[in-house]
Amino acid sequence: MKIGYDEKTHIFRLESGDMTYAMFVTDGQGFLGHLYFGRTPGEDDLRYLARVRGDGVPGAEARDRCSFLDSFPQEIPGNGVGDLRSPAVSVTDREGRAVLQPFYRSHRIISGKERLAGLPSTFGSKKDAMTLEITMADDAAKMTVILRYTIFDGIPAVVRSTEVINDGAEPVTLDRAFSCSMDMDLPDARMLSLNGSWGREKRKQLQPIGFGTQSVSSLRGISSHQAHPFIGILAENARQETGEVYGVNLIYSGNFLAQTERDQFGLVRVQAGIHPKGFAWKLAPGEHFQSPEAVIVYSSEGLTGMTHAFHKLYRGHLMRSPWLHRERPVLINNWEATFFDFDLEKLLTIARRAKKEGIELLVMDDGWFGRRDDDNTSLGDWTVNEKKLPGGMKRLSDELAAIGMKLGVWFEPEMISPDSDLYRAHPDWAFSVDGRTPCRARNQLVLDLTRKEVRDAIFDQIAAVLDSADIAYVKWDMNRPLTDVATHAADAQAGGLFHRFILGTYELQERLITRYPELLLENCSSGGGRFDPGMLFYSPQIWTSDNTDAIDRLTIQEGTSMLYPLSTMGAHISVSPSQAVGRLVPMMTRGHVALAGTFGYELDINELPEADAALIPAQIVLYHRFGELMREGDYYRIASWQDNHVCDCYCVVSGDKSRALVTWVQVLCEPNVHCMRMRIPGLDPDRRYRITIASPEVREDDHTGNFLHEGELSSMRGFLNATLTGCTLAGAGLLMPMLRGDFRSVLIELQAE
Ligand code: GLA
Repeated sequence: MKIGYDEKTHIFRLESGDMTYAMFVTDGQGFLGHLYFGRTPGEDDLRYLARVRGDGVPGAEARDRCSFLDSFPQEIPGNGVGDLRSPAVSVTDREGRAVLQPFYRSHRIISGKERLAGLPSTFGSKKDAMTLEITMADDAAKMTVILRYTIFDGIPAVVRSTEVINDGAEPVTLDRAFSCSMDMDLPDARMLSLNGSWGREKRKQLQPIGFGTQSVSSLRGISSHQAHPFIGILAENARQETGEVYGVNLIYSGNFLAQTERDQFGLVRVQAGIHPKGFAWKLAPGEHFQSPEAVIVYSSEGLTGMTHAFHKLYRGHLMRSPWLHRERPVLINNWEATFFDFDLEKLLTIARRAKKEGIELLVMDDGWFGRRDDDNTSLGDWTVNEKKLPGGMKRLSDELAAIGMKLGVWFEPEMISPDSDLYRAHPDWAFSVDGRTPCRARNQLVLDLTRKEVRDAIFDQIAAVLDSADIAYVKWDMNRPLTDVATHAADAQAGGLFHRFILGTYELQERLITRYPELLLENCSSGGGRFDPGMLFYSPQIWTSDNTDAIDRLTIQEGTSMLYPLSTMGAHISVSPSQAVGRLVPMMTRGHVALAGTFGYELDINELPEADAALIPAQIVLYHRFGELMREGDYYRIASWQDNHVCDCYCVVSGDKSRALVTWVQVLCEPNVHCMRMRIPGLDPDRRYRITIASPEVREDDHTGNFLHEGELSSMRGFLNATLTGCTLAGAGLLMPMLRGDFRSVLIELQAE
């Protein structure tokens, strides 16, 4: 890892892993140009890579300065001064003038990486991180822009952010302050995004990067189910394990825009930041604005390399929870079991049986507070409904403790029901515009978390509940987009309300984990509507989707795990047929798929068919056996059901390469086909691995799909219980037979000799 600045050539080089990120300052006024981002080149003068048209950088009076600016690759393009592509930073003054061009002034190279105040952000020690801070200024506009670039030892990534300061005597409106902007040379590259909806989050979409602008964005106040604050850029020949891939991921949970813009000369401007629409941040004289951070990853080893860089960075430099490396308790959540229809006895009946099977924690989901018997009321009234729970939270947690179970509780702190005591007392605490009836979603409104008194009141209520009993886990939900965003605060600051709202949410979560450092916090937003790196700064796990159907989960978990470690994905076994899609999936497969996440149950264990319930103890044994491997190991995507329509396959290899677990799910059975070859990457090529099936039970007369048949097993006899070298497994692979029936799965364990 190193950051260098060459006084002669004015080139900055940031190097870590096998990645180099290079910029330079032009002679004369000092434009900051982007030179190179990719595999580390030799110690050469890279200025020849500068895309300067004509005879170098023109002076201020030059007749063709505009053409220069409109083609020059800039690190932080301003607005209205010749670069007519998308700006990265833009301000409007009182007269409505929007003209800004920052120039290089100075820089500092600092050991380590500080957290950003009030925002989720990466961190690093003096030993494992270095930061370059470049100060830019526009004297005419009286604005300073500070760019920060951090690299982390051994990780091919740069974390960037932008700070804007108003040095003038007049207020300005900051229209945009993107976290990153890069003008890259990417002929024939493709853009990868993760799109979806409720119940089908994070599906891959790959499209050529054409001329003009292509974007993903959210204006919903959350990072959203529909789009994800991520763009992958795949070189023409890049694939899962080979070729050059870039990834841009924003550490932010609110409105965002991430885009590519291929210009007239073919250069691609890649940008990500807070969405400019509805941003309009007022910057008074002397005030600063700090953008969120963008993580930019380079991989020379295809998508797998990109995934590993993100996982390593998030595990080592973003996630703080003491639970990060701990085994999470196996939980059972009552949502899909009871919805709102539960009471103390029903919960305890579930808990007693759950405990018998090896489950450790009961999560009481929505419906325990106020008069909440359906989703029409009581958000904001966080007091226990004693009709359902006589004796309150304390009695429930005591009864659970007596059974040997811990308690988890659901909250939705950012919301208010119009039918609630809170709303009757403070109707102005909900976002709404005077003279307009605010738009309800699930019959609820959004609390104005930009106001401190609102945040305090909500926090005090939550703290009172948490202090009243022994509560080990909180599920923090958020179930609607933001609309009618307007505040009734007397001292309201104009503009930027969407951003101020998410800062309010961040502040509340920070307070929660500071006061309850041992609390296991799981974020959620109608499933994966806010599954982003911003939330991972506060909670080590996030509910991945409300769709718990194991087959749909393959796709959702593939998209999610492309960026985020498996340990972050909330994954539960639920009933078959699935409540989301009505699909019948064997219990064995449901368990194998949930093993790739935090692992738990979301069903009424007393209503479960005995044949399914009988498998739970063995599933929990598997979780304890492989939990650490799944949490800490390196994840490799092998086959994607989204792409091949037949099977899904991935493996997780321990850091020391001594063991691995391959999950193979045959989604649809086909007749009359050969075995499928699955190459197993990531192993030590020289070591020999013993190959076994993790749950090998054979039952000839079984038609549940939970057990293998003799014939299926014998097709694998050639390699089962044998040893093969990592080299053979990576090159030749294993031959997986077609299993009879749909939605079947096998776990293959590899243990180094
Ligand atoms: C959201 C969550 C669910 C559940 C319900 C409760 O939809 O994603 O898991 O908690 O809210 O209302």
